[in-house]
Amino acid sequence: MKIHIKTYGCQMNERDSEALAGMLTEAGHTMVDAEEAADVLLFNTCSVREQAERKAKGKIGYMKKLKARHPDLIIGALGCMAQRLGNELLNELPHLDFVLGTGQLHTLAPLVESIRADRRQVVAITESAEVLTGMRTHHRHAEGGEPDFKAQIAITRGCNRFCSYCIVPYVRGREVSRSREDVVAEARELAADGAKELLLLGQNVAAYGWGGNVNPPPSGVSPFAELLEELDRIPELLRIRFTSPYPTYFNDRLIAAITGSRTVCHNIHLPLQSGSDRVLAAMNRQYTAAGYRAVVAALRAAMPDVTFSTDVIVGFPGETDEDFRLTRELMNEVDYDNSFIFKYSPRPGAKSASDADSVPQEVKEERNALLLEDLKTRVAAALRGQVGTVQEVLVEGTSPRNPERWSGRTGTNRLVHFLPVADQRPGTLRQVKITRAGGVSLFGELL
Ligand code: 5AD
Ligand code: SF4
Repeated sequence: MKIHIKTYGCQMNERDSEALAGMLTEAGHTMVDAEEAADVLLFNTCSVREQAERKAKGKIGYMKKLKARHPDLIIGALGCMAQRLGNELLNELPHLDFVLGTGQLHTLAPLVESIRADRRQVVAITESAEVLTGMRTHHRHAEGGEPDFKAQIAITRGCNRFCSYCIVPYVRGREVSRSREDVVAEARELAADGAKELLLLGQNVAAYGWGGNVNPPPSGVSPFAELLEELDRIPELLRIRFTSPYPTYFNDRLIAAITGSRTVCHNIHLPLQSGSDRVLAAMNRQYTAAGYRAVVAALRAAMPDVTFSTDVIVGFPGETDEDFRLTRELMNEVDYDNSFIFKYSPRPGAKSASDADSVPQEVKEERNALLLEDLKTRVAAALRGQVGTVQEVLVEGTSPRNPERWSGRTGTNRLVHFLPVADQRPGTLRQVKITRAGGVSLFGELL
C-alpha cells in the first residue's frame, strides 16, 4: 500500500515516524509525500500544548472529505494525543480507522494489514515494554538516492521527572533505557550505511542507564558518559549530538566524556524553563537558578567554545513581572545561541492544570516577543564575533534558499554558507574561513 505519515511535535516524534516508515517499507509498503496519493494516512500526534492537539484534530477532521471520495482510505492517529484521548478521539473523529498509542507503535505494520482485511475500528493504547526494542528500524534513503548522512537513535523512552506543567510522563509513560549493546549495534549499522552524524534522543537523555530514579546522579558515575565513549570509537562517525538532557545530570564524569571525545559536539541544549526560583519550584524542576548557572559555568570552563540552546515557558501560573525579569536576565547572561520559547498551555492531567492559567494571553505574547527580540540581538552579536575565524563544518549540501551556495554546520551548530568548489561532498568535514555574518547564519570560503 502507499502510505503517508504526517508528524507533529518534537524530535522524538520525528524519530518515531522515521522508524515507522522503515518498518512499513520493510513490510513491503511504499512511503509517499502526497496525501492524495496515499491508501493509508497516518498522523503522528503531539500533546505538549493545546495548540498542537488542535492542529492535528483539525487536519484529521479535514480528511473526512478525502475519505468520502476514497472509501477504502485508512486513516490512523498515532502517538501522544492518540495515547491521551484513546476512544474519545474515535468519538470525536469517527472517520478514523484506528488510534495507536505511544506504547503500541511497534505493532503498526500488522495492525494496518488487519484493518485492510476486516475494516473494523481499533484503539490500541496499552503500555508495552516491546516498543523499547521494537522501534529500531530506519528510513534514511530518499527514493533511489543516497542515504542521509544524519541519523537518529532513541536511547530512552518516557520521562520520570513530572514537571508540573508537562503531559509527557502521562502520555509516554515511565522512563526506560535501551541496553548499551542494542544502542551501539544500531549505531554501527547506521555508520555502515553511511551515517556520519548521530543524534541521540530521549526526554532526558543524560539519565540514560540510571533506571529512572536518580536525580541528581552521584559524581564520578554516568552510564550516558560510558555510552558516548563507546559510540565515539565508531570510526565512520564524525559527530554525535544529543537532546534533551535535564540540567542536573551533567556531573564531572559526563562533562569529561564530552570534552575527551572526538565526536561529541560542543553545543548543548539545556532546558531552563524559568530563571525564577519560585517558578522553578512550582514547576517541580529540581534545580535553582544558581544551580543552573553552575552547570553552565562547569560546561563553559571545560569547553570555552561551547554554545547553548534552551526551552523556556512564559506565563506559567502566577509568573510575575519580577519572575519574568529574572528569566530574561539569566537568558541574556547565558547568551544562548537559540531558544525555544513557549507560552504556557494548561494540559488536563498535568499537575499545574489545576492552578488558574492566571497570566493573560497578551502578557504571554509580550514576554514571548521580548525574549525573541533579545535572542535576535544576542545571536547577531555572537555571529559577528565569528568573522575572521576558521571553523570546521560538516557539509550538508546546497543551501535551501539559494542553490548557488552550499552550507554546512559547525560543531557549535552554526549554519555556514559558502560558494561551492569542485570537491565538497555532503557528510564530509571541511575548514571554512568566516568572512561575513548575517542575522542568523555565517558566510565563508572553503579552505
Ligand atoms: N505549556 C507550554 N510549554 C510546555 N512545554 C512542555 N509542557 C508545556 C506546557 N504545558 C515545553 C517545555 C519543554 C518543551 C518541549 O515544551 O519548555 O521543554
Ligand atoms: Fe516534560 Fe519535564 Fe519530562 Fe521534559 S523533563 S518531558 S518537561 S516532565
